[in-house]
Amino acid sequence: MALFRKKKKLSTDTIDNGVKLITAVEPKNVVAEQFRTVRTNIDFSSIDKTLKTILFTSSDVSEGKSTVSANTAVTWAQQGKKVLFVDADMRRPTLHTTFGVTNTQGLSTILANNEDYHGIAVDSVVDNLTVITSGPVPPNPAELLNSNRMKNFLQTVQNEYDMVILDVPPLLSVTDTQILSAGVDGVVLVVRQGVAQRTSVQRAVELLEMVHANLLGYVLNDVAPKNGYGYGYGYGYEK
Ligand SMILES: Nc1ncnc2c1ncn2[C@@H]1O[C@H](COP(=O)(O)OP(=O)(O)OP(=O)(O)O)[C@@H](O)[C@H]1O
Ligand SMILES: [Mg+2]
Repeated sequence: MALFRKKKKLSTDTIDNGVKLITAVEPKNVVAEQFRTVRTNIDFSSIDKTLKTILFTSSDVSEGKSTVSANTAVTWAQQGKKVLFVDADMRRPTLHTTFGVTNTQGLSTILANNEDYHGIAVDSVVDNLTVITSGPVPPNPAELLNSNRMKNFLQTVQNEYDMVILDVPPLLSVTDTQILSAGVDGVVLVVRQGVAQRTSVQRAVELLEMVHANLLGYVLNDVAPKNGYGYGYGYGYEK
């Protein structure tokens, strides 16, 4: 009998193949419409303050952070906003495979070498959407993401873009996200039905409250379609 329980093997599907960009590929699809509703709800979740930097996270792995952040970023770009989408999940990066760009340089290079981001950000296939990939996986992602360089980076890019969207690791696995959450205008929590555990989501919210993060709302991922289409997986939003 094994002494220790084996660690659950995580799927590498989206790391290898990227996420489905239904909003770009099939903008008329009902799921793309759901992402536009998510976008509108996020826009309305902060009336007094303009939201420029938004981070999507979840309590645990594989709840749909990358899928939701990428598709919502696309819908903002389709609305004519100048959007920068940044892969700040240096542990399970997906943006480069989703958008089919190289990952030899990215956020980790910008932060480690104190480099200017202009030479590293690339235009994506979607109009108005520029991306910065994670860069090579560094030995110290938490240290890089929690550095003053990261703060300066976020400050600087805001001058050039209408919206800056970050895909980050889950809150409960590493400290990166909790600290980053305090430095952005808003946080959206992706909660996947049938995967997320109530206590984990509660803990994630506590971690956000601890740093006074601005929790804008929840994207409920994988909810059964109510409209009877029986197609796709629902994306809902709650405050
Ligand atoms: N609503 C959905 N319906 C069906 N599959 C989904 C849905 N949302 C996400 N998935 C699938 O679940 C897997 C995980 O999604 P995704 O990579 O977006 O999650 P993640 O939270 O970014 O994961 P990680 O913790 O690895 O970063 C992918 O295979 C994705 O295609
Ligand atoms: Mg991801």
